[in-house]
Amino acid sequence: MHKHHSALGLAESLRPVQPVTLLRPHAAARAARFFVEKFQGRSMYAVKANPSPELIQILWDNGITHFDVASIAEVRLVHGVAPQATLCFMHPVKAEEAIAEAYSVYGVRTFSLDSIEELEKIERATQGATDLTLCVRMRVSSEMSKLSLASKFGVELTDAKELLQRTRQVADALGICFHVGSQAMSPSAYVQAMEKVRAAIVSAAVTVDVIDVGGGFPSVYPGMEPPALEAYFGAIHQAFESLPVSYSSELWCEPGRALCAEYASLLVRVERRRGDELYINDGAYGALFDAAHIGWRFPVKLLREPESKAREIGFSFYGPTCDDMDHMAGPFHLPADVQPGDYIEIGMLGAYGCAMRTGFNGFTAGDRVIMDDEPMATLYVRDEEAREAVSSNVIKL
Ligand SMILES: Cc1ncc(COP(=O)(O)O)c(C=O)c1O
Repeated sequence: MHKHHSALGLAESLRPVQPVTLLRPHAAARAARFFVEKFQGRSMYAVKANPSPELIQILWDNGITHFDVASIAEVRLVHGVAPQATLCFMHPVKAEEAIAEAYSVYGVRTFSLDSIEELEKIERATQGATDLTLCVRMRVSSEMSKLSLASKFGVELTDAKELLQRTRQVADALGICFHVGSQAMSPSAYVQAMEKVRAAIVSAAVTVDVIDVGGGFPSVYPGMEPPALEAYFGAIHQAFESLPVSYSSELWCEPGRALCAEYASLLVRVERRRGDELYINDGAYGALFDAAHIGWRFPVKLLREPESKAREIGFSFYGPTCDDMDHMAGPFHLPADVQPGDYIEIGMLGAYGCAMRTGFNGFTAGDRVIMDDEPMATLYVRDEEAREAVSSNVIKL
């Protein structure tokens, strides 16, 4: 793939008709190295956030050796890209056939569960294996996170005792895992969750070999500027150290969003303007699912030379399909003189956005190009001056 230096240059030279995905491998590599060096435990990548084989390779090359996979397709995918990687099947409700294939064909030994039924399923599918690491998923609050993961999975504290004791009898190594919800805006989310873990360990009186704090590590978006990731790592490590099992257990985490949000952005074209509504060529069924369905705002930048001097106003976007729901409320702040034919870069779409693209109505992904400039926002260069030094593309949110 050809390397480009700026989205503006790309828009002006190619004038692409379809949306273009702008990939920044150096940003994903930087995020991987940050987790590997600073998280005081093992960081595994939650593949669902962006299953691109190139990204998996970048993360592997930069020290991520463990991958949280949620389906047999993800198991096969990661194995194909990085055969030496350790895969952990962390979906608490799996098909029995998927467990059997993961165990016997791909050597997967780590599975999560949140019910006795799932434990029995794992025992059957692995024919009573004695080399398993089994992680009991506990239900914890999502109240400090922007996206809840508190309803669907996780055993309640009141039912955890029996499940932990039963699982302890089957497992070679016993883990406890949880997920505080995605885009956790405060490190206290993890501290509170660890208190539940402590209560579960005390009541079940079992030895525990793994504490897995899951995903939820934030990225940075307009209106969502979280504390530094070091503050999360520090709070998690301190809470872990205070658990009665810390001397004999490992600490794991499963970041998705934080490892790949900065990896990709999108170059779109304005096809029509109606007042403060812009009809653009990507949307709810493309990479903007979260912008449409949960009102998430992403950084935007008008790519025009000379730069527009108009004051900024808030716009909403319509995507290209015929569906009314293909609408992103925003507001997205852009110069007031945006016109059809203008190009806009929409940032921070490397997590989930790019992974959830469909081909609905015939609007499929356009080209993918590699960029060597900086993403529109970053959590990995905190200091303002250093940020300006690395790039002129990092914008104020
Ligand atoms: C089990 C599990 N681990 C990790 C993640 C990644 O979460 P995040 O992208 O918020 O870091 C998810 C996301 O749904 C998940 O379900």
